Amino acid sequence: MFIIASSNGVIGIDDAIQTLKSGGSALDAVEIGIRAVEAHPADHTVGYNGYPDILGELELDASIMDGRTLKSGAVALLRGFPYAISVARQVMERALPHVLLAGAGAGRFAREIGAEAWQEMLTAEVREIWRERLMASYPTADLAKLTEDGPLLDMVRLATDPERVAGTVNFIARDRQGTIASGVSTSGWAWKYPGRIGDSPIIGAGNYADNRYGACACTGMGEMAIRAGTARSLTLYLQLGMPLAAAGRQAMCDLRDLGGDFIGGMNLIAMDAAGGHIGFTSRRGSRYIYQHVDMADYQMLEREVVDIPERWAGAPRPVRQVIP
Ligand code: GLY
Repeated sequence: MFIIASSNGVIGIDDAIQTLKSGGSALDAVEIGIRAVEAHPADHTVGYNGYPDILGELELDASIMDGRTLKSGAVALLRGFPYAISVARQVMERALPHVLLAGAGAGRFAREIGAEAWQEMLTAEVREIWRERLMASYPTADLAKLTEDGPLLDMVRLATDPERVAGTVNFIARDRQGTIASGVSTSGWAWKYPGRIGDSPIIGAGNYADNRYGACACTGMGEMAIRAGTARSLTLYLQLGMPLAAAGRQAMCDLRDLGGDFIGGMNLIAMDAAGGHIGFTSRRGSRYIYQHVDMADYQMLEREVVDIPERWAGAPRPVRQVIP
């Protein structure tokens, strides 16, 4: 019984480990660990008080997957509900045959199941950071008009996400029964174009778990994980017989070799069915959390680095590693 998580999961690791210790399932541990991060006001990349989109609206993405049944649930563009991971879990538990609900439909579902709603999802401090950020690049912008039909394309291109390296939280847990569950939650890129959905709620891109082989969850530039199908790819590499480290390296190389203008930092954590675990990053210094239920405290472990040069504008690079 153990858990791995992105480093910002420290806020929830204790609750998650206690859940496993007291007989809770891997799904429970993942949900509880992520909820703690979602409620934490100082994490501006997840849940309550995340950095909003270009219009100042907070829209949350999350997904959860049960590696025993391969059932999964996800929400995207959820407004007004801090615990996106819990709403995602209820999509999995109650909304079959659906897997992903987005926007107004996700909000309607959250209301219908009585999910906890918060009137105010942003502090005045974060609203001010958003306003200053926009004003720094566009001093003459009329923010009131932007919310109507103002042109946003240029703004979104120029805005940068100050926390995109460390942003988003993921947890992968393995419980007493050997079941693996994985979950991801995010407020997405700060100042994103309204309606932008990242990899976190896309099963196969930012999140995948299968008891038979292992699990993977991503943080970083979600568009890349969507294009490369990263979480499912890594799990499939395990299914094809690659060792965990090789599978992770291959998934990172797939990301590195994407073509196009928008290439950035990517991180992943993964485990295999035998209980191995590993983290990868394209940015040195990024770490991940590991804790077994028998340990008194978590360990913060280095991730293996695979360089992903930014701004690679060409066609996809030739494959440099092949499945043995
Ligand atoms: N990986 C999180 C996002 O891109 O939204």
